[in-house]
Amino acid sequence: MNCCHDEKPLRMTMLQNSRLENTLIIKTSCEKKRDAYKTHEAQKEDLLKKIIPLIIFLFLGVSSFAQDTTGSAKSFSDDPFNHPLLPLYLLSIAIGIVIILVLIAALYTIKILNVFVAQAEKERALKLGIAYKKEPSWWDTLTEKLNASVPVEREESIDLGHNYDGIRELDNHLPPWWKWLFVGTVVWGVIYLLVYHVMGTLPLSDEEYKQEVATAEIAIQKLKAAQPQVLIDGNTIEFTNDAELIANGKKVYLSNCSTCHRNDGGGNAIGPNLTDNYWIHGGNAKSIFNTIKSGVVEKGMPDWGKIMSPIDVRDVTFFVMSLKGSNPVDAKAPQGELFEPVPKKPLPGDTTKTQAVL
Ligand code: HEC
Repeated sequence: MNCCHDEKPLRMTMLQNSRLENTLIIKTSCEKKRDAYKTHEAQKEDLLKKIIPLIIFLFLGVSSFAQDTTGSAKSFSDDPFNHPLLPLYLLSIAIGIVIILVLIAALYTIKILNVFVAQAEKERALKLGIAYKKEPSWWDTLTEKLNASVPVEREESIDLGHNYDGIRELDNHLPPWWKWLFVGTVVWGVIYLLVYHVMGTLPLSDEEYKQEVATAEIAIQKLKAAQPQVLIDGNTIEFTNDAELIANGKKVYLSNCSTCHRNDGGGNAIGPNLTDNYWIHGGNAKSIFNTIKSGVVEKGMPDWGKIMSPIDVRDVTFFVMSLKGSNPVDAKAPQGELFEPVPKKPLPGDTTKTQAVL
């Protein structure tokens, strides 16, 4: 590998540090103090650079959290001052600020302590007449390890001898963090292969889809079971004197049937009287239901079952049956045969709407 990856700044600081440290040894104590102060200032600046993005990140986090919790209701940004969670947000922001301040104070204390420790070390080294070597911080060690590259001083050893307008090509190896990331992806790939394809512990997306569909199917079944559909069948229908159903039937009748049977069902030039006891196609619930549903198309009675829901056909049947004996004025003369309803003995416990309709 011959890339000169971006390690210049690190090398520069390392170089500067070592030069600074070498010269420090021969400096007077006054200069030492001044230098210590300078390093301290530089560290402060460094620290601020690290903390400001952290604060921004935290605040962004808080605002996105605020959006999440308010959901579909009026969002926090719409009316922040009257939002019920405002005190909670203020409290968390206050706690956040306190935590940040405590952290800053702690970091500063550590930094200052380190400066004093370094100072003492330097003085001790000076007294003993040995060169002072600064202890690298854990962060320095870590970045050093992750980026480990040939130091600037030994760059000549990896120089490939190619010089492009003063830009030299170095045979640097890839930074360890990159290599480990790569190794990580390989390991992940092996785990993935084993888990999904070899052992089948976790479902593949196809299988996952099927499972989701199956779960949804079960949910649909449950929902259907919870709301049993009223079966409306012309062969089993029985008249039910239910005001709600008849009221719906009346609505359906007035908007669809009046033109040919009159508002009161008395009949007109087109349709027969629906209020008497004479029926062309039978006068029980089943016959009337079937006449309305299938119509007598050749005689001008439409087949309503094609455009109406079974519920509406049932309800309008019950409404028509409820008109019996209403004797409207100027009703059309009876047509068809006299229908004598057979008095029906109610079954014991046969009171519910659904059972009666079925
Ligand atoms: C376009 C006109 C027209 C409309 C609209 C109409 N009907 Fe009819 N209907 C007729 C005619 C005509 C007959 C007679 C059919 C026959 O002679 O066989 C009839 C017959 C009937 C019968 C049978 C009567 C019997 O004596 O057996 C019923 C019940 C009935 N209609 C109900 C309805 C209902 C309920 C509606 C509304 C949903 C409706 N009709 C809408 C024209 C219509």
